[in-house]
Parts: sequence; structure tokens; C-alpha cells
Amino acid sequence: MATDKAIALTPEDISALEEKYLFATYKRSELFCSHGSGVHLYDMNGKRYLDFLGGISVNSLGYGHPRLTRILTEQGRQLIHCSNLFYHPYQGALAKKLVEVSGMAKAFFTNSGTEAVEAALKIARAYGNARAGNGKPVILTLKNSFHGRTFGALSITTQDKYQAPFRPLVPDIEVVEEFTVQALEKAFSDRVCAFVMEPVQGEGGIVPLPVDFVRAGRVLCDRHDALLIADEIQCGLGRTGKYFAFEHFGIQPDVMTLAKSLAAGYPLGAVLGNARVAESLGPGDHGTTFGGGPLACRFALEVLRIIEDENLIAKVDSLGRYLMDEIKKLAIQHRSIREVRGMGFMIGIEMGAAAKETVSRLLKKGIITNAAHETVLRLLPPFIIEKKHADEFLTALDAVLGEIESES
Ligand SMILES: Cc1ncc(COP(=O)(O)O)c(C=O)c1O
Repeated sequence: MATDKAIALTPEDISALEEKYLFATYKRSELFCSHGSGVHLYDMNGKRYLDFLGGISVNSLGYGHPRLTRILTEQGRQLIHCSNLFYHPYQGALAKKLVEVSGMAKAFFTNSGTEAVEAALKIARAYGNARAGNGKPVILTLKNSFHGRTFGALSITTQDKYQAPFRPLVPDIEVVEEFTVQALEKAFSDRVCAFVMEPVQGEGGIVPLPVDFVRAGRVLCDRHDALLIADEIQCGLGRTGKYFAFEHFGIQPDVMTLAKSLAAGYPLGAVLGNARVAESLGPGDHGTTFGGGPLACRFALEVLRIIEDENLIAKVDSLGRYLMDEIKKLAIQHRSIREVRGMGFMIGIEMGAAAKETVSRLLKKGIITNAAHETVLRLLPPFIIEKKHADEFLTALDAVLGEIESES
């Protein structure tokens, strides 16, 4: 498939190169990717894998969607980058589309999720400073959250394993340790400029927040003139069976962040804000070299059109329910399954220590998943899977759990 000279490298060559020349940040699985097609990823030996992880919630349209391939080549020839000093046709058009589907007012485009979170945090501080000078600096975040690796995002990512080596972090971040209305009420004051939450925590192990908790967050933000920020980077854009996960909670945030599946594999992130924050960023307050380029924005516009044309959000909802129900049936037979959580195509199976073993045995059987938070088998399949793919996964999971349980 590949035409690059790198194809002459063997898997051993590739891992040796990485070991010698890369910072050791990633613990990779033994899967050497060659190419993808539809719901399948192929390794360098031509082995086919059913992808139930979708590049960690990125490849929502699978691999090689013909409409996306066409955009890539057409726009690649026309204009890949032109800087934010100038106009191109796609940034405003994408902002309009996102604003329409989200009920927001304004957008700013980034290259990644963590940068979208940084922009949201800057909006929060600018909003607080405009209201109360330095009397409103506090940003509330939740235990078990994940918002990214840059300093601001890391500072609200309240998991020790991510933060510990890099302290001191950004000041005036306070953590809500329990998902209860009382804990939230205790944490709020007029010093709070924003409350940040993932409606369904992703890296934290697929944990949907309690509905009354999120609703209380909305009420408290209004009471204390603070912004409700929904991080929809992993759970947004159709993944939970609605356009945005916050819709399941009957609330509307003031600010939201997007990335991952926004351009379905091409790097692009966004922060969206409502009328309350429309004036929070002015000329020169924020910027980026790459964010919102013509190729990325045109790509994302096409992704959103495909999701609508192929009615994929309704499909995620119905097939997601089937998958969830069938996994719950497996939970009755298999003691390794302790809990099944999630919505749509964002499913977590709490398994304790068996999660990692399950991931590696599924991989051997040609199915890609991963373990979030060490103990949770995480499923984030592309929106284009069919029932037969769900059944293939369920059969493999049943077999793997049978093997593991018979050995223990
Ligand atoms: C909820 C959430 N926010 C932010 C991020 C950071 O995104 P990125 O890795 O694109 O910087 C992630 C990535 O996993 C995420 O899941």
C-alpha cells in the first residue's frame, strides 16, 4: 500500500529507530500499522483488525471514506495552509455550522484538544477578570478528569500520574472531589470564574456524570456568574448518540471544547462560546499559526455533512443500545465484568486487572480496543460499524473472557 521508502523497514527496524530517537513517552502495542479501509486497520503483514477504538475517538468515519479522500486530494492541490493573517472560504463556514448545531455564538480553531482547552481556560480567566478584576480567578475541575497535557489543561487534569512530575501547575484551580450536589455547592463561590467538566469522562474510564450533578453545576454557574465549560473532545460530535453529550443532561454550557473526531483524523480542535463570552477574546488576545487552516476546516465541514447525510448519530444511538444490552448480558455470564457504563459508541467495561489482558487477547483475535484508567475496557468504534461488526466483537469478547476465567 505505502509508496514511501519507509515501507522497506521491518517492524524490528521501526521499533529500534523509535527506541533510539524518540522520548519514551508511549508504551506502544505490537501493532505496526500499514493502512486502513472502512472499519478495518491492517498491519504490515497484511493482518486485518476490526477497529473498536477508532484512533481513540478520532476516526469516527473509519478509514478511507471516499468523500474525505476526495477532499484531501482536491484541497491538498488547491491550498493546504495560508496563515490566519488572511481569509479563506472554510473557517467561517465551519464556525457557522458548529455554532448552528451547538447553540453557541462564536468559535476559535486550534490544532488539538489540549489547545482548545487552553483557549477555554483563557476565556474563563478573561471573563472573570472583566467582571471582578483579580477577585474571580478560581477554576473548578473534577476528580478523575482528563483535559490534556499542556500546562493549563494539565492543571485541571486531576490525576496524579499526569501531574506529579510537572508541579508547580497553574494556580487557582480547585478540585471537586465528589460528584454530589453538596460537594459542588461547597466548592462554589463568587471567586469562581468557571466550572469545567467532561459530561462523560473518557480517560477516567468512561464515567457519565450524574444528571442532577451536572444540572446543579449549571444552576451554580448562573448563581455565581461563572462559566460552565463542557469538554466534549472525546464524547462530542455524535459519539454518545446525540450531537453533544451535554444534551443528555438537559443543560447548555457557556463554552465547549471539541477536537478528536472534528476532522475525523485530520488534526483540528475548536472552542465554542455563547453570547456571554462573545466579547471575552479580542484582537491579539489569542492566536495560532496552524489552527483553522483551509484543509482542516474543509475536511471537518465534509465530516459533519457525511454524519448528517448518512444519519449516523441515530445509528450510533440504536446500535450503541444494542451493544450495551448485549454486553450487559455477557456480564451475567462472566464474573470478570464488574460494571458496564457509557452511552452510544462510548462504552466502558469495568474489569479490574483483567482489562489489560482482555485488550491484548482481543488484539490477537484481530480486534482493537484499549484499557482506560488501567481497569476499564474502552470501546470507541467508528460510527460506520454495522450490527455484524458489533456481533463479531461480542463473540470475541465472550471467547476471551471464557479463556481468562477458565485460567484463573
Ligand atoms: C476529554 C479530553 N479533553 C482533552 C483531551 C486532549 O486532547 P489532545 O490529545 O488532542 O490534546 C483529550 C484527549 O484524550 C480528552 O479525552
